[in-house]
Amino acid sequence: MAVRYRWATLGCGVIAHELAEALQSLGGKLYSVGNRTHEKAVAFAKQYGIEKVYDAPEDIFKDPDVDIVYISTPHNTHIKFLEQALAAGKHVLCEKSITLNSEELNRAVALAKEHGVVLAEAQTIYHMPIYRELKERIDRGDFGPMNVISMNFGSYKDYDMKNRFFNRSLAGGALLDIGVYALSFVRMFMSSAPKEIASQVKLAPTGVDEEASILLKNDQEEMATVLLSLHSKQPKRGMVSFDKAYIELMTYPRGEKATITWTEDGRRSEIEAGHTSDALAYEVTDMERAVAGEGDDMKLAYTRDVMDIMTRLRKDWGLTYPEEENLKK
Ligand SMILES: NC(=O)c1ccc[n+]([C@@H]2O[C@H](COP(=O)([O-])OP(=O)(O)OC[C@H]3O[C@@H](n4cnc5c(N)ncnc54)[C@H](OP(=O)(O)O)[C@@H]3O)[C@@H](O)[C@H]2O)c1
Repeated sequence: MAVRYRWATLGCGVIAHELAEALQSLGGKLYSVGNRTHEKAVAFAKQYGIEKVYDAPEDIFKDPDVDIVYISTPHNTHIKFLEQALAAGKHVLCEKSITLNSEELNRAVALAKEHGVVLAEAQTIYHMPIYRELKERIDRGDFGPMNVISMNFGSYKDYDMKNRFFNRSLAGGALLDIGVYALSFVRMFMSSAPKEIASQVKLAPTGVDEEASILLKNDQEEMATVLLSLHSKQPKRGMVSFDKAYIELMTYPRGEKATITWTEDGRRSEIEAGHTSDALAYEVTDMERAVAGEGDDMKLAYTRDVMDIMTRLRKDWGLTYPEEENLKK
């Protein structure tokens, strides 16, 4: 499908390059770029043949020709840019984690509603075709009732407290950086948002969550465990267990293959759908469909449930970010 709207990127770091490539793979390109460091925006524009570079990121919102703003700056800066973009009547696709907490997200959702625009989190899990394929089979009853989910996500990051992953001033910590993937997966397979939540946390010297284990249960008594670490490599493995089978997905944030093991006889089968390398292209396509009013697959309701869980967990841990502390004063 061709690119139908004019996209501007706010930020031109690692993930923005992937967005630029995704638009190219769909036969289009970014319309414009704004970035804190102007020279980097100029180089980025040159690399991707982008027509317009703004003097300052905020100029994106004043440009009447921009339809969709893609925000790919650090988590703690999202709300400021979200509010400005939405108030200017722009549709927004914002990188994960979309905000620091539910209060910020509620403000953004209200603004999107007021201005009649699409607001979505760039959560790859919600757009990978493998999940659609699995959901169809689950809804058809192929595997029977869903009972338990078991999630891992562990990265080994250098134990350098200046590194953004451990930096409290950049909203570091495992939950907002990697936990958001595991929880989005959990929410997608659970029939309702979990209400009972228990957890343990290990804090890094900076006070952010370095490791966490989380237990979740909803009203249907579906259960999940999530084990996160920023200092220990683990497979990115998601496992969903039903009466008749269990499903495993490796590298699940951009999964393309699921292995099914049948309870009765241990037989294994595989399902493949989509490609890991096209993850952002699926996101772009779904976003354009939502903007065009052709069906909303952006799953903002799941994003809100996940943000509520993360907000509650950090409250239990007594973990706040400087932006949240300023509000209390
Ligand atoms: N969905 C995914 O698969 C995925 C993967 C990676 C990251 N992400 C998310 O995407 C976001 C960015 O990650 P990244 O890896 O692309 O980071 P990155 O390479 O460090 O790029 C960060 C970008 O944000 C800008 N920036 C930093 N601080 C800013 C501030 N205070 N105000 C305005 N702009 C600022 C930087 O501008 P300068 O050029 O001036 O430094 C740069 O353009 C994060 O929210 C992250 O969680 C998502």
